Amino acid sequence: MLEGQRSGERHRSAIRSAVVWEALQALLHARRVAAGSAGEPLRVVDLGGGTGGLAVQVASLGHQVLVVDPSPDALASLESRAAEGGVTASVRGVLGDASTLGDAVGEQGCDVVICHGVLEVVDAPAEALRAAAAVLVPGGSLSVLVAQRSAAVLGRALAGHLGDARAALADPDGTWGSTDPTPRRFSRDQLETLLFDAGFDRPDVRGVRVFVDHLSGAVLDTEPGAAAALRALEAEVATHPDFMAIATQLHLLATRR
Ligand SMILES: C[S@@+](CC[C@H](N)C(=O)[O-])C[C@H]1O[C@@H](n2cnc3c(N)ncnc32)[C@H](O)[C@@H]1O
Repeated sequence: MLEGQRSGERHRSAIRSAVVWEALQALLHARRVAAGSAGEPLRVVDLGGGTGGLAVQVASLGHQVLVVDPSPDALASLESRAAEGGVTASVRGVLGDASTLGDAVGEQGCDVVICHGVLEVVDAPAEALRAAAAVLVPGGSLSVLVAQRSAAVLGRALAGHLGDARAALADPDGTWGSTDPTPRRFSRDQLETLLFDAGFDRPDVRGVRVFVDHLSGAVLDTEPGAAAALRALEAEVATHPDFMAIATQLHLLATRR
């Protein structure tokens, strides 16, 4: 890969995660301020946190993070990543899954649960969300990131895979069949209902990756100022209802009742 393409890909990768990271940072800051203890770390659980990219970022803000994940390989990578980031004392990995979350954390044992890219792959999303609610203190926060159904249809159609687009539109899980690597996707209504039923209120919703997945990295590299402009545009449309509907992912921040 040429250096220009690599740098375009780096821009795309940073833009893809920016909306979620900024919202999560603001939430963690607001919770700290509300607790009246500016220096006190929050207890954060990253369910299905994988290799810990986000866990290490959160720990770098001064919080205590527990990653619960069923993959021993992911947890081994988490350990090295935490060491590289100098946050070994603030990040811990536990082998487990949504069904054993209560054992790992304890009832009302944390302030924030992160659940990103996980509801798509668990056996029972409703049970995973109930488990998250049980380990949170009342008023605690949940950050959920999921793949959005409508985006799968749009993405396949724009790529010229029209049969797959029609299959994803018709499928109750929003997938295009056995070659689709994602087992399940969600609509906004469906996710909000699941959250309410699990004990969460007032979700703050954002659409993530509205345009970035449809642009080539080369555009970002050759057009002066394009990466900064795209980042700003993604931030602006994230809460715009017309554009939220076609975002690749939905990010919801919800409060435990
Ligand atoms: C797509 S990755 C997402 C990783 C990370 N949260 C992120 O956003 O980059 C899905 C993760 O969910 C984990 N996972 C799979 N089944 C799970 C379950 N039943 N409960 C919790 N985590 C699970 C996988 O091991 C993997 O680390």
